[in-house]
Order: sequence, then C-alpha cells, then structure tokens
Amino acid sequence: MAILPILTAPDPVLKKKAEHVEEVTDEIRALLDDMVETMYDAPGIGLAAPQVGVLKRIIVIDVTQEGEEPFAYKMINPEVIWESEELSLYEEGCLSVPESFSEVERPSVVKVTYTDEHGLAHEIEADGLLATCVQHEIDHLNGTLFIDHISRIKRSIIMRKLNKMKKSA
Ligand code: NI
Repeated sequence: MAILPILTAPDPVLKKKAEHVEEVTDEIRALLDDMVETMYDAPGIGLAAPQVGVLKRIIVIDVTQEGEEPFAYKMINPEVIWESEELSLYEEGCLSVPESFSEVERPSVVKVTYTDEHGLAHEIEADGLLATCVQHEIDHLNGTLFIDHISRIKRSIIMRKLNKMKKSA
C-alpha cells in the first residue's frame, strides 16, 4: 500500500470526466487500497480517483465516527439512481480544496449503485453525511468540485486563497 499525492485546485485533471471501469483487476484493487490509506492519512472522509490523478470512476468513503469500527466503502462505477426531493445543507470541505469550507445544498437521501472490489454489484440507500459524501465524491468523477455549487463570489474568494497557497508553497 502507498500514500498517494493529492491534487489540489486549480489542477486541470480535477475538471476532467473520469472513465468507466470495465473490469475489476488486481491493479484496480491495489488502487482502492492505496486510496483508502491516502484518505485515512489525510485525514478525510472520502476520496475520488481523479484527486490522485487517476481518471477512473472509483471512490472511497468512510463516514464512521470516532469510537466506531472504521468501515471504508470501496465503490467502482458508482451511480446515483434516485434522489429525494428533500434537500439538506452541509458544510463541505475537500482534500483538493484545502482549508476551505462552504455550505452546499444537495438531496437528503440518494440511492446509489456500484460495483465492489470483488466485482459484485450493490445498491445502497444513503442519508445524512453518507448521502452528502457520496454525491460529493461522484461529482469528482464528473469534474465537479463542491465550490462549483456555491456562489461565484464565494468561489472566487476560495480560488484566490488557493492560488496564494500554491505560490507560497
Ligand atoms: Ni472532494
């Protein structure tokens, strides 16, 4: 396993659409393990493959609380197949948008299908933090960041801060 470097905005890779995974190979399983390790190391509650420079439709998520048994979802080709009309507001952050947070409104409940690391198909209904997180990570597969959901003014403030951080790094 390895900790992978995480790309930060405005890296152009983060704006690209990721490709469907055709076959779950050992290479894909190794990538999933590396992504989980990278997410825990960061630390974060979710990570999408484009954030580590791999344009494949793969995400990992662990929204368990401290004191709970950790559980990492490993999702290949995740897809939202249903979303509630009811919306929820959560303050979101992103490992690719370091040190910035903003409230984003999304459907409160979603049904998601995905393939696991053994090639098995799953369908889950997610609510609460898991619903927000899975939508945020699937967004990454379509080149969308949480800051694309907020006002232009708020986004430009965050982008200016990121550019400054990159210059001084
Ligand atoms: Ni993110």
